[in-house]
Amino acid sequence: MKHPKKVTVPRLLCLKEKSRKIVMVTAYDATFASLIDEAGVDAILVGDSLGNVIQGHENTIPVTTDDIVYHCRAVARGVKRAHIIGDMPFTANKMSSDKTLEDAAKIIQKGHAESVKLEGGQEMAATISKIVSSGIPVMGHVGMTPQSVHAFGGFKTQGKTTDAQKKILDDAIAVAQAGAYGVVLEGIPGELAASITDQISIPTIGIGAGVDCDGQVLVSYDLLGMLEDFRPRFVKQYAQLSVTIKDAVSQYASEVRNGIFPAEEHTVYLKK
Ligand code: KIV
Repeated sequence: MKHPKKVTVPRLLCLKEKSRKIVMVTAYDATFASLIDEAGVDAILVGDSLGNVIQGHENTIPVTTDDIVYHCRAVARGVKRAHIIGDMPFTANKMSSDKTLEDAAKIIQKGHAESVKLEGGQEMAATISKIVSSGIPVMGHVGMTPQSVHAFGGFKTQGKTTDAQKKILDDAIAVAQAGAYGVVLEGIPGELAASITDQISIPTIGIGAGVDCDGQVLVSYDLLGMLEDFRPRFVKQYAQLSVTIKDAVSQYASEVRNGIFPAEEHTVYLKK
């Protein structure tokens, strides 16, 4: 079968130019990644949200670069078309720019990601320039950046005051000027996201930032309804896989307990 054409960074930029929305979803393993890819998304993010949904932590801070590399490798094996973005975790992001560059290279070289995403605005501009100069495309991430959860005092919408709005706009501009090819706008008012989207030439990808961004990203476990107790306002569940999975496994358990599974068709017999 002919391989589908890979989505590249220039292709993502072209989508903004043509006013076509960019679709991005997270994935962490080969099976989910291949299903999500076949559904036709433009980009797959191996997000540090894996700290929450895969590792069971309360936030993304414990995730390491090795974790991201491991999950990127698995995702890369499942993806034929979508652009693969590896997230820079807290420890890679918040130390020296040399360490950030080294870890970005690791995510590209060993994880087979095609670009990296990192959280932070003006304070990360020099680091973004350095990574971009080395030939690694970078997506920025501003607004409610989850790695700063302790500084924000929780996962709270940012940009509610005029000063805070100005800072987030300046952050997005700094990220764009530093050479990022796109920027995630997370947890900010829709009007602010719309205004940023108008003022910068690179694509904005929203999560909890309204409909006027150039694209949208959701955590796959959220959009598929895998987590019963997590339903923030910005999430729409397009399926309730938690219910489907529990029903299927409890039916299996009941059939095992009642000697119904495995049936004849699931068994090889010597004499038959
Ligand atoms: O880690 C992640 O999944 C993310 C997205 C929610 C943007 O950063």
